[in-house]
Amino acid sequence: MCGIVGAVAERNVVEILLEGLKRLEYRGYDSAGVALLQPSGELTRIRRTGKVQELADAVASGEALGSTGIAHTRWATHGGVTEKNAHPHCSSDRISVVHNGIIENYLALREALTAQGYTFTSDTDTETIAHTVHAEMQKGGTLLQAVQNSVKQFHGAYGTVIMDSEDPERVVVARSGSPLVIGLGLGENFIASDQMALLPVTRRFIFLEEGDVAEITRREVHVYDVNGEPVEREVIESNIEHDAGDKGGYRHYMLKEIHEQPTVVRNALQHRVDESGLLPDIFGPGAEEIFSKVKHVQIIACGTSYHAGMTARYWLEQYANVSCSIEIASEFRYRKSVVHENSLLVTISQSGETADTLAALRLAKELGYMSSLTICNVPGSSLVRESDLSFMTRAGAEIGVASTKAFTTQLTAFLMLTLAIGKHSGITEQDQQSIVSALHSLPAKLEETLTITKGIEDLAEEFADKNHSLFLGRGDQYPIAMEGALKLKEISYIHAEAYASGELKHGPLALIDEEMPVIVVAPNNELLEKLKSNVEEVRARGGIMYVFADKNAKFSSDETMRVINVPHCEAPIAPIVYTLPLQLLSYYVALIKGTDVDQPRNLAKSVTVE
Ligand code: G6P
Repeated sequence: MCGIVGAVAERNVVEILLEGLKRLEYRGYDSAGVALLQPSGELTRIRRTGKVQELADAVASGEALGSTGIAHTRWATHGGVTEKNAHPHCSSDRISVVHNGIIENYLALREALTAQGYTFTSDTDTETIAHTVHAEMQKGGTLLQAVQNSVKQFHGAYGTVIMDSEDPERVVVARSGSPLVIGLGLGENFIASDQMALLPVTRRFIFLEEGDVAEITRREVHVYDVNGEPVEREVIESNIEHDAGDKGGYRHYMLKEIHEQPTVVRNALQHRVDESGLLPDIFGPGAEEIFSKVKHVQIIACGTSYHAGMTARYWLEQYANVSCSIEIASEFRYRKSVVHENSLLVTISQSGETADTLAALRLAKELGYMSSLTICNVPGSSLVRESDLSFMTRAGAEIGVASTKAFTTQLTAFLMLTLAIGKHSGITEQDQQSIVSALHSLPAKLEETLTITKGIEDLAEEFADKNHSLFLGRGDQYPIAMEGALKLKEISYIHAEAYASGELKHGPLALIDEEMPVIVVAPNNELLEKLKSNVEEVRARGGIMYVFADKNAKFSSDETMRVINVPHCEAPIAPIVYTLPLQLLSYYVALIKGTDVDQPRNLAKSVTVE
């Protein structure tokens, strides 16, 4: 989704800004722009629709100089994908603004500003920020004061950076509902919506909190809280390892990230589980006491993370003996729900910034949940800061918009949570041993599973010309079928639906013909015989099936069924293992179709608006 980079320095910052935007490309966007100020106050603004490279080409062909600058990648919300709607937006060539989020009362502001004589040149909500700050500047005072007065007039979400051509040695930034991080340099300072953008120039960061406004010059950073009081915010040294330019020899980030899964899952388990079970305190101080009181778990998430939560529900109820509900964040936040006694709210998110999940967490606090835990991949993110407990998935930076390694580490984390809660709610010794031993075998099992790539590449050929597909699974493989369908939709644009296979005869059987491939996930578990009956129902209606099956499950290929053997694995980790072939299938189908695998159309990595 939208990305922000800004800098205040002595040198020309244009390359830093463009490199920052490139590092944010993975989040998804449709246009990009930059505004630069020279010490004389001369303003240069360049904007382009399309890729950051097109902006970089435009910058290279002109004289783009500036020691203070702001840049942005836009993911359209208000107003189409056009150059005039791309950020930065300006007011009277004096105030320049980049903005993530949505100013919900923009229409009322626009009307009032128009009445004051301001002319709007875009269809965006963001332009109201530029004119509001400009109008405040006319009352006298500093840019900081003007921004502090302006933000009181905004409803909605914003992470915004503002420059004044008449005061070219500072930027003022404000955060409410949309993250911003200040990067500290030597004699120069930076701002971005995501620390990834700034890793080439600094590793020292201040994460702004809700309602913060900050003034940034080359040598100083002053942060003010929601009441306008000066505050000290902690400086955090980032240890993120990531070179956004490095695909490690793979053709796409997604393929690299699929192949990283054995390693990142190993990292996720390290120093957390040994042969005897979970190590103490891995969920942080206070967790044991909270877990000992848990009677119900409410999971909230979006997208792929939601599928991880759905899988966890099967595990928490089956092994940990604790009741569990799961809901999509955008639904939970807008309905009245009943809070169970001693209920633990668990949010799950790779980014830690998803607007709906964050809003759901805030609502849950008002509703009186006993405590909150987030399972997250980004240390210091909003969900981590606002939850009582946090557990890092340690997947490393995920660049491909379609989530892969973040998902399998989320599942790994949920198995550890199952053990941690189960300890207090009656997990059997046998189940505990079986989960621990399965977790130990998991990294090697994932490595083995990746060796079936060749068979899947061949299979992808048969898919690429199809328009629809059906994914089937049962039990804890039903969410994996849903995740497989989501992956195929996201990157190959083939319509894919997932069903719990017991539901087949209640509707989807009507769709079966030779043009509708049916993908089945079939580990050798207690539901295998039931699943085989569902497969026969499809076969009897002329369906063509592709079955990912345990080699002991005794499926054999024939003219209506192609069987791809998946290495045998223990039951608790089967959902994680079976995810990999489905990821590979989507990847190779997308490759044949020639879609933009890492940045699929219309999608964003981190959805920071509702
Ligand atoms: C977007 C991403 C998905 C992700 C979802 C939830 O739609 O493209 O990959 O699963 O947001 O994001 P989160 O960061 O909360 O896991």
